Amino acid sequence: MRAQLIAGNWKLYKNLAETKAFLAVLAGQTQQAPQVEQVLFAQAPLLPLIGEEWQRLGAPGRLAWGPQNLYWEEKGAFTGELSPVLARELGSTYALAGHSERRQFFGETNETAARRALAAHAFGMKAVFCLGESLAERDSGRTMAVLKEQCQPLFAQAREAPEGFCFAYEPVWAIGTGRTATNAQAQEAHAFLRGLVQEAWGAEAAAKTRILYGGSVKPENAKELLAQADVDGALVGGASLDPLSFLAIAAAHKG
Ligand code: 13P
Repeated sequence: MRAQLIAGNWKLYKNLAETKAFLAVLAGQTQQAPQVEQVLFAQAPLLPLIGEEWQRLGAPGRLAWGPQNLYWEEKGAFTGELSPVLARELGSTYALAGHSERRQFFGETNETAARRALAAHAFGMKAVFCLGESLAERDSGRTMAVLKEQCQPLFAQAREAPEGFCFAYEPVWAIGTGRTATNAQAQEAHAFLRGLVQEAWGAEAAAKTRILYGGSVKPENAKELLAQADVDGALVGGASLDPLSFLAIAAAHKG
């Protein structure tokens, strides 16, 4: 059985004081979702603060953290990038890769997203590799073909499953729109992705690999989405900014 993972993607939100306030509330409420693994993807300068604060608060729950993006080289003349070594040094155990906003606004490709995801594993972290179709792609019946294309460079670069590798299916039309995929749409895409993982990395990897759903996940819809057989967690944007709604989503996990 795959243990569910509830991840918050804070995007370009939260300053130092807001981060501390969030953690203080989270630390006071961990009995609500004691068994589920929770991850925060924060702006890189917040990562050391999250680590320090969580220690100071007595590390009362299963909280992990990591960057929203990282580079595949350890060091060099790569202005504006984040070294995977530094990310790891800051206590990161997960890293996001290929988020649709990186793809849409910053030129991320299937190829570079795959390199970033695999760099996380090369430097001791686990990737959450994001993918998903646009509304036009869904409307023209291309969803599954797009998901396959998005995975191709990843499977070409990694012949075997990296231990603990995670996917996040995030239909672009559901991100920040309030319009969630239906349970059936999520399950269908997740099952298809698991099939791709099986083809590329084998049955054992497919059974172990966690596939999170992202796109307007809220406390009100989390339980049903997380109950789907192939939905192994959530990647939450807006609703992860409030610690109580993040916790309510975490409390909806199925194990
Ligand atoms: P929302 O939950 O705000 O739709 O964002 C989803 C997302 O992009 C998480 O990575």
